[in-house]
Amino acid sequence: MKPFIQKLPKVELHLHIEGSLEPELMFELAKRNNIDIPFSSPEEVRAAYQFSNLQSFLDIYYQGANVLIHEQDFFDLTWAYMLRCKQDNVIHTEIFFDPQTHTGRGIAFETVINGISKSLEKAQQELGISSQIIMCFLRHLSEPAAMETLLQALPFKDKIVGVGLDSSEQGHPPEKFMNVFREARNAGFITVAHAGEEGPALNIRNAIDLLGVQRIDHGVRCVEDVALVEELKQTRMPLTVCPLSNLKLKVFQQMEQHNIVQLLRQGLCVTINSDDPAYFGGYMTDNFNAVADAHPMSYQELAQFTLNAIEASFISDQEKARMTEQTNEYLAQYV
Ligand code: ADE
Ligand code: ZN
Repeated sequence: MKPFIQKLPKVELHLHIEGSLEPELMFELAKRNNIDIPFSSPEEVRAAYQFSNLQSFLDIYYQGANVLIHEQDFFDLTWAYMLRCKQDNVIHTEIFFDPQTHTGRGIAFETVINGISKSLEKAQQELGISSQIIMCFLRHLSEPAAMETLLQALPFKDKIVGVGLDSSEQGHPPEKFMNVFREARNAGFITVAHAGEEGPALNIRNAIDLLGVQRIDHGVRCVEDVALVEELKQTRMPLTVCPLSNLKLKVFQQMEQHNIVQLLRQGLCVTINSDDPAYFGGYMTDNFNAVADAHPMSYQELAQFTLNAIEASFISDQEKARMTEQTNEYLAQYV
């Protein structure tokens, strides 16, 4: 299966660009920007990546982002990720960024969005990879703070397809952000939200009903509500699942216990994604391999993850048709 997975066209829908900051680049940027980091080598940084839950990861993750200061830093960060996409045959990616992680340190919104978007334009031209940008509100901060971020984003509306919700799920349910999500939808943004990662199935239902989301990020705890699973299946509500992330953050103790293949076989629109690959030990191909190693699957089933991601993406119907054909042609070589 490994050669099949390696060359399989892939579409990534759940990737935090700050989570693609590899320790080597973190060191380079720390030096370039004269920022102190509490580690003496990239190896020491990697050794510190032992997490017990989502919060223990987030604490280290926000600290890592402190080395990102200039537009060039955001450009370099994004470019390194796009090169990894090329290696993994990712043909399209929808990238999250967390403006508040940076504006809260005095970095201008403009600096962040320009660095990321210039890099994505170069990747389209030179690597042939298409992309979209989604900005996430940090749910541990207040709704007024999210509203302020939404206002900052309006001048860059042409570069941002949607808004999402991430950070600590426990204690910060979707309903806390009902007003700002309504404003975002009124302004023409598509909406998505992290839900049912660490939090209960009710967060998934409320993200759909109260935030009007078009995808659920993670969503693996949907299985705790049988009626919800049936609804997700009937409506083809996509779940952007991140298998290695779930393992690292102890949402599942072992990949054998992960429910993604069960959900695929039940007919849900589940997809495979890398979340924060620099922190969780793997990009897209690694995530596919980890799932396939623990859950033997047919070629058709593996390709279905890509077909689901194309269906769930925010590209035009014409682009979807082209990528679907590309994937089916690839699959036809094997079956
Ligand atoms: N921010 C980055 N990765 C995240 C995750 N897996 N859950 C919530 N917030 C995040
Ligand atoms: Zn995430």
